[in-house]
Amino acid sequence: MRVVVLVSGSGSLLQALLEATADPDYPVRIVAVGADRSGITGPQRAERAGIPTFTCRLPEFSSRQDWDRALTEECAAHEPDLVVSAGFMKLVGPEFLARFSGRYLNSHPALLPSFPGMHGVRDALDYGVRVTGCTLFVVDEGVDTGPILAQQAVEVSPDDDEESLHERIKAVERRTLVETLERLAVHGWTVRGRKVSIGVSAD
Ligand code: GRF
Repeated sequence: MRVVVLVSGSGSLLQALLEATADPDYPVRIVAVGADRSGITGPQRAERAGIPTFTCRLPEFSSRQDWDRALTEECAAHEPDLVVSAGFMKLVGPEFLARFSGRYLNSHPALLPSFPGMHGVRDALDYGVRVTGCTLFVVDEGVDTGPILAQQAVEVSPDDDEESLHERIKAVERRTLVETLERLAVHGWTVRGRKVSIGVSAD
């Protein structure tokens, strides 16, 4: 399965995928890595692995629509079966969603629908939950509202701060992402409304 990965940060989720795809038996290939900004370690990790990278910086475009079109074309040029947001901090637009409908995943560091948005870890901590976690979902036109593929719980420790909790969540996200992409590559998936089923024959 051909995958384009989009990043905006340190790229630790990307790194987990890079390590998994180093195994020739892992049925996923990262064909490109895209970023919305320069000077981050994500694309450098890809370049070290010999994977093409591209950058789509919003300020370089006269409108968000032009940025969305450019991002769509950059991704499409690599003919991916799937696009994965691994910490990509931009909301894609209608052109991207139309082109990759049902084929664009995002990993969020909270148990959606709780704590959507940019500060899911901090919001969960501030709320005082005892359990939070991560969610892998199919992106739709909303913010962190798409059909859920996989979730894993992570307990909150009394002495957790945002960074320590996020690092523990990321460790679970990495495992969830690698395992789920393998299942998608082997069995395929279908999205019907709010339900996404792995396995083309799944009802
Ligand atoms: C992950 O926790 C992801 O859920 C969130 O941003 C983080 C990405 O971390 N959207 P990294 O850049 O892969 O280290």
